[in-house]
Amino acid sequence: MTALPDSWFAEAAEAGMAALRGYDLTGLAGHMRRLDETALLGMARVLRNDQALTSGTIRSADEVMDTLGVVPRHRWIVRRWLKVLSDEGGLTESGRGRYRDLVVAGDDEFAASAAALDGSRQALGCPQELTRFFLDAISWLPQLVRDEVSVQSLMFPDGDFSTAMGTYADNIISIFTNRAVAVLVRRIAESYPRGSRILEVGAGVGGTTAGIVGELDAAGISGIGYEFTDLSRFFLSSAAERFADRPWVRFGLLDINDEPDRPTHSVDIIVAANVLHNAHDIDAVLARLRRLLAPGGHLVIIESCREHYQVMTSMQFLMSGRVGEPEWDFADFRAGTDRIFLTEPEWLDRLRSRGFRCGPVLPGTGGALASLAQHVFTARS
Ligand SMILES: C[S@@+](CC[C@H](N)C(=O)[O-])C[C@H]1O[C@@H](n2cnc3c(N)ncnc32)[C@H](O)[C@@H]1O
Repeated sequence: MTALPDSWFAEAAEAGMAALRGYDLTGLAGHMRRLDETALLGMARVLRNDQALTSGTIRSADEVMDTLGVVPRHRWIVRRWLKVLSDEGGLTESGRGRYRDLVVAGDDEFAASAAALDGSRQALGCPQELTRFFLDAISWLPQLVRDEVSVQSLMFPDGDFSTAMGTYADNIISIFTNRAVAVLVRRIAESYPRGSRILEVGAGVGGTTAGIVGELDAAGISGIGYEFTDLSRFFLSSAAERFADRPWVRFGLLDINDEPDRPTHSVDIIVAANVLHNAHDIDAVLARLRRLLAPGGHLVIIESCREHYQVMTSMQFLMSGRVGEPEWDFADFRAGTDRIFLTEPEWLDRLRSRGFRCGPVLPGTGGALASLAQHVFTARS
């Protein structure tokens, strides 16, 4: 099976950058660092305010978490905070998983960082939903770790999707990746004269879907079947309303961690935007998706390829096990690491080891979007 033409990737990257015209990307790397720093200050503030790690004490991660009252399902998140705070010089790891010397973050320092963050967000021209949600989540961290407040209630206040849309669709990197994916999927769909069967997994608020569906419509490609799926029924009814004028879009439940109730080789293109890191076992999920694809079929992925500290104090709470259940761990090479996101080389390695042939990764290395480290992968079965 031939690789996809280089010109398709050039066209997709160009379309992605064109969609960002009007944004001043010069301050982007600084804004990302400011987000990281504000998140680190937020983590340190929780440890200080709840006396979990005060000066002079040496405590194990478990002792710190018992003081904070962290519920079992979220303990991996707080362990990771301790690790990144010590990597960043915010406290000292004194061997055998014990911690001391928290660099105390004052409320003034946190407030100054949050104000600077809003300034850099405005300079970039990004919607305020994203930083508002992030700062909200930080202010609720003590309650979030104890499951007294859910991150869903902060993200979807009264069922409103605007915070989620700001997070998944209207931020700078999503504008690029969603546009690039729309162009690539349209190009691939055009290569199936009989029409193509497209399955989207983890489609959620439909940020990526909207771009693809609009692009396919505008190109007038006929014979498409598009199945919009998610783990959660919560997203299906609003998607059904949103795409009601496209009878070729159908809706269904699909958990990437379960065997799908669909025949093998029944799909030509699978789209997976910001969902595959939820795989319990990445190799098993990639093998499962490959079985669904017809020979020569395509997997188009968007993934974050670095750990953003602001995610660790907000959206990461969505990625713990179920409420009331014990802590669980991945069944792949991430087991015991408290990590969730794979790096770009790790994705390429896992995809190739499952028999996929990978195209060039977008955006390429360097360039204005590098600090965001979110990428589009294409892999052919
Ligand atoms: C970060 S959101 C991304 C939403 C959307 N793809 C986008 O980028 O606009 C992740 C989505 O994956 C879904 N999800 C999480 N775990 C999943 C699983 N095991 N199987 C299928 N979907 C899952 C969530 O319900 C959520 O809608």
